Amino acid sequence: MLDLRSAFDRDGYAVIPGFKSPEEIAALRARAEAIVRDFDPSDGAAIFTTKDQAAKSDAYFLESGTGVRCFFEEDAFDADGRLRQPKELSINKIGHAMHDLDPVFDAFSHDARLQTIALALGLARPLVYQSMYIFKQPNIGGEVRWHQDAGFFDTDPSTVTTFWFALEDADRSNGCLWVEPGGHRSPLRQRFVVRDGRASMEELDATPWPGAGATPLEVKAGALVVFHGRLPHYSAPNRSAKSRHAYTLHAVDGDAAYSPLNWLQRDARMPARGFA
Ligand code: FE2
Repeated sequence: MLDLRSAFDRDGYAVIPGFKSPEEIAALRARAEAIVRDFDPSDGAAIFTTKDQAAKSDAYFLESGTGVRCFFEEDAFDADGRLRQPKELSINKIGHAMHDLDPVFDAFSHDARLQTIALALGLARPLVYQSMYIFKQPNIGGEVRWHQDAGFFDTDPSTVTTFWFALEDADRSNGCLWVEPGGHRSPLRQRFVVRDGRASMEELDATPWPGAGATPLEVKAGALVVFHGRLPHYSAPNRSAKSRHAYTLHAVDGDAAYSPLNWLQRDARMPARGFA
């Protein structure tokens, strides 16, 4: 655990290979498939994009913080509004409260080892605010532009920590994560806020996003990547024939002040819980 902490402090991230078993991964994948199968696209699903976050952040998105909703890939539809690929191959992600609402996701997300890691990384009272199942579909898996997760989960002091689980092998061909080692010491550039029900991205700092200094995190299925909320990260579009499924959890320290402007709010009806 000391090694983990020192890597995390030095680089802003740490990789733990083989953290989840093939059986645990298979159970989560099967459950995600079932959620997509049951999803009726005529529900008015939002198309997820980081390119124009504010415009796309409609009620469907904002209400997903305490629900289980499917979001389409940006390139899922042709010019006539028809799906280019079957529905099962068109979903960008499921979000954002499966870890509290779905028993299979709950079991995957609540694990004494995760609590131990969170404590070792300095979260005194970890609270898991968000879960996302990311498909990174073959051919149309969308780019996720450079960002810092602390821009979506502002606390004072800054504490958000990301737990990223590879459910399939991820490499440069299918859109693995890219990070800027040490970039967690750079300032927070942007913050996604909701004021009076309107979502917007605020510019905080003009520090450029990483260029040549970025490193691809090629990992095998089962690996856990933990990273700091200010670590800049990115993933390229997936133009390969292979998907790149991943699952993420975002935890903050319950002892820090959680901004009332954050898009995802929890209250007494559905309080955020720890990992244990
Ligand atoms: Fe992120």
